[in-house]
Amino acid sequence: MLKIAARLHQCNNYIDIMAIWIPTLDDRKGPKYLQIVDAMAEDIRIGKLTAGTRLLPHRELAYQLGISANTTSRAYAEGVKRALLRAEVGRGTYVRSPDTAAPGGELNTLLRSGAESGPVDLSRNLPFPGFAEVYIQDVFASLGSMTGVSALLDYQTKDDLARHLEAGKIWLESCGLQAETGSVLSTMGGQHGLLCSLMALLRPGDLLLTEALTYMPVCALADALGAKTGSVEMDEEGVLPEAFEEACRTSKPKAFYLTPTLQSPTTVTLSDMRRQAIADIAEKYNVFLIEDDVFGPLKTDSPAPLAMKAPDRTFYISSLSKSVAPGLRVGFLSAPHRLMPALRQAVNLSVWMTPPLNLEIATRLILEGTARELSHQQSMLAARRQRLARSVLGEIPYKADPHGFHLWLPLGDEIKADVFRSQCSQMGVLVSEARHFTAHHGKAREAIRICLSHEIEEARVRQGLEKINYLFHETGKRIILDL
Ligand SMILES: Cc1ncc(COP(=O)(O)O)c(C=O)c1O
Repeated sequence: MLKIAARLHQCNNYIDIMAIWIPTLDDRKGPKYLQIVDAMAEDIRIGKLTAGTRLLPHRELAYQLGISANTTSRAYAEGVKRALLRAEVGRGTYVRSPDTAAPGGELNTLLRSGAESGPVDLSRNLPFPGFAEVYIQDVFASLGSMTGVSALLDYQTKDDLARHLEAGKIWLESCGLQAETGSVLSTMGGQHGLLCSLMALLRPGDLLLTEALTYMPVCALADALGAKTGSVEMDEEGVLPEAFEEACRTSKPKAFYLTPTLQSPTTVTLSDMRRQAIADIAEKYNVFLIEDDVFGPLKTDSPAPLAMKAPDRTFYISSLSKSVAPGLRVGFLSAPHRLMPALRQAVNLSVWMTPPLNLEIATRLILEGTARELSHQQSMLAARRQRLARSVLGEIPYKADPHGFHLWLPLGDEIKADVFRSQCSQMGVLVSEARHFTAHHGKAREAIRICLSHEIEEARVRQGLEKINYLFHETGKRIILDL
């Protein structure tokens, strides 16, 4: 009897102190052990997993998840490395208290700040939300009394409507590009412009070059079209012309996709000299250029677009998403005249046409000068957030443009980007690590991108930056040294 009671008592104790924590991994990507650690960090952050909780032995968790014990053991080791867990010999693995990760409780206070309103999202490179609303409501009102609405309700199978194209031309001019009307067409935003450019240019087996750190959907699109991708090295000032030339010489690319202005993630704007060099090399080796200028409207002092230097071989992609409203889904694309039929076909095949009603709204905003004004406001707000970032991050050597939406923070060799991102996430701040922008399976750098524009409240952005500042100076380095 006694034996049974003792067992029951033990059993109750066991149930009391050991949480049956089984992570939900459904939507997570990447190696399994990191999925487990990320889920753990998230659950600690939202309070689902509390300090002092003892986790299941790794073999048991492995059994519950249907994976190998090696994987769960690696996950627990990584959790210890990230200061989420402490392992006690012969006793088990426990969730670590934030206080023990930061003597003095400073981390604990920071951790708690803002937790009630969800994570501060500094991971998305989007415009300041809600700005266009009042202007678009005015346009809606004026559309109500418009005559000739039926023209907007038909299929536009050949060209866009003339007045929409005229607006496109004006928009492109405001981005520094002089284009003939016959070389302009509308798209459903920059991403669609990119898809159509690739459809018009690439055949299976062709090689598309990108910058070493790039907008990754371009690689997925090329892949879907059966093309290969390769990357061109960059330095502090952006893509290296000599690396582009070397790639042209050795691997005969069909096209080179790049973002010369306010590049994401590096924030760099390519100098006029480098633009000229890229245009000359493209000419010499007969390579097309795909110039993504979706951020261009935010920066009025950037050098002339590549499309002005190599008009016969450049696809120039612009969009109203980053400066007016992404939900409009309107962009304009300019390309060499001879390639326009292929581009129109790509638009037809992918979406038939850019929705004329959306185009009408964009056209009105452009013709009234509102679109330009909205870009200006976005750019001014970005400048204000950049000043805020400087005041919080002080001397931390990050890269930024005074009118850009984001920062690029190289972490040096001592701090690993995945660990740093995970620590940020644990403290309730979402950022993106370099791996998410690393083209062609290149070696990821240790750096993170911090976006300042998506969160509406400045106070939350400040809070997020303060946490990043803390981690950069204290926790990041200390935990790495603990390894
Ligand atoms: C570099 C770059 N190009 C294109 C796009 C897509 O823009 P859009 O919303 O106009 O499709 C994005 C969106 O984030 C981007 O960052």
